[in-house]
Amino acid sequence: MNIPQIKSNFRTIDSILYAGYAPNVISTAMELGLFEALAKEPMNANTLSAKLGTIENVTEAFANALVSLKLLEKNGDYYSLAQVAEEFLVKASPAYQGATIALFSHYGQVMNQIPEILKNGPPKFDTDMWANIEAMKAGGQGTMGGSIQDVTEFITTLPEFPNLKNMCDLGGSHGFYTMALLDKNPQLRGTILDLPKVAELAKELILEMGCAERIDTIGADIKTDVSIGEGYDLVFASHVIYEWKGHLEGILKRINKAMVPGGVFVSNHLSMDDDECGPVSGTMVELMTRLMGYPTHHLSEDELKQALEASGFGDFTVRPAEEGRQYRSLILAARKLGRPEDRDIAQKQKGGKSNE
Ligand SMILES: C[S@@+](CC[C@H](N)C(=O)[O-])C[C@H]1O[C@@H](n2cnc3c(N)ncnc32)[C@H](O)[C@@H]1O
Repeated sequence: MNIPQIKSNFRTIDSILYAGYAPNVISTAMELGLFEALAKEPMNANTLSAKLGTIENVTEAFANALVSLKLLEKNGDYYSLAQVAEEFLVKASPAYQGATIALFSHYGQVMNQIPEILKNGPPKFDTDMWANIEAMKAGGQGTMGGSIQDVTEFITTLPEFPNLKNMCDLGGSHGFYTMALLDKNPQLRGTILDLPKVAELAKELILEMGCAERIDTIGADIKTDVSIGEGYDLVFASHVIYEWKGHLEGILKRINKAMVPGGVFVSNHLSMDDDECGPVSGTMVELMTRLMGYPTHHLSEDELKQALEASGFGDFTVRPAEEGRQYRSLILAARKLGRPEDRDIAQKQKGGKSNE
């Protein structure tokens, strides 16, 4: 037998393949109520299988797989929840991510069509997928897994925050970010701007959440040249301006026009490695996005800053994407220049320097 000489290690590929079973294991554990059972008390495989109505011997292997995924801990024969499972996988937790995980599986179905779409191209992207109240609620609850904490901490610590009065949440959908910011500043009022069908549903959601007195909605497609309002001292755009990648100035100039001088624009968008080949989650999101017929789901810090500078913004504050607790999301604030004290900043930018 001619045994091949090998220079690398197949275990790299082996690990990737076996990690592919993880979503199945996690979804089944959630369906069975395994995380709720262990939230009550640590259990061995015998008690756990009796609680779940499952076969002990298989349950043991199942629980061990969850230990290897670091969702459970094992002490002797006893399984307990790891903190990450306690916070995100137990239904009673305020940061429960069940709906996000269900959406992950739902959108992931496009991965079954990779060969066909690679060859024939994606279908036309359907914007109606955003006009779904359950998906909007899931999106709002999803932010509780770190994004809303990151964004709220970032914006409330900006020096302008205590004086803000009038914000717009562009592509705001569920409106959770606006609601969280309004909670922290009693004089702030909000406008959720989204596609007409989504804005109608957002109105219902805001009413349901008891925030209708301080939050308005505007139904508009920002691709057309409609006004997005005026007099905002904060415009927040989260996961919405990807579509303008490569020609961001158009949308940013319109945002700038709707703001007061000195007003703050805050962007919250996914950001990948410079060569767009990492992290793995980022490359997979990008692949899924393009398979679904949407242009991209990432913006780079450089592109964003350059486009902002060309659109009348400057004086950046940045929270690096690596620090994101839920996603690799870059949070960046830029001020609308135009006040007398902004002259120096504008001058430096014209000279080609960024003024972070
Ligand atoms: C991925 S969701 C983000 C929702 C929310 N901002 C967040 O970060 O959780 C994108 C939102 O942008 C809205 N959107 C996309 N294109 C739009 C357009 N051309 N005009 C207005 N809203 C748009 C969608 O309807 C959707 O609600």
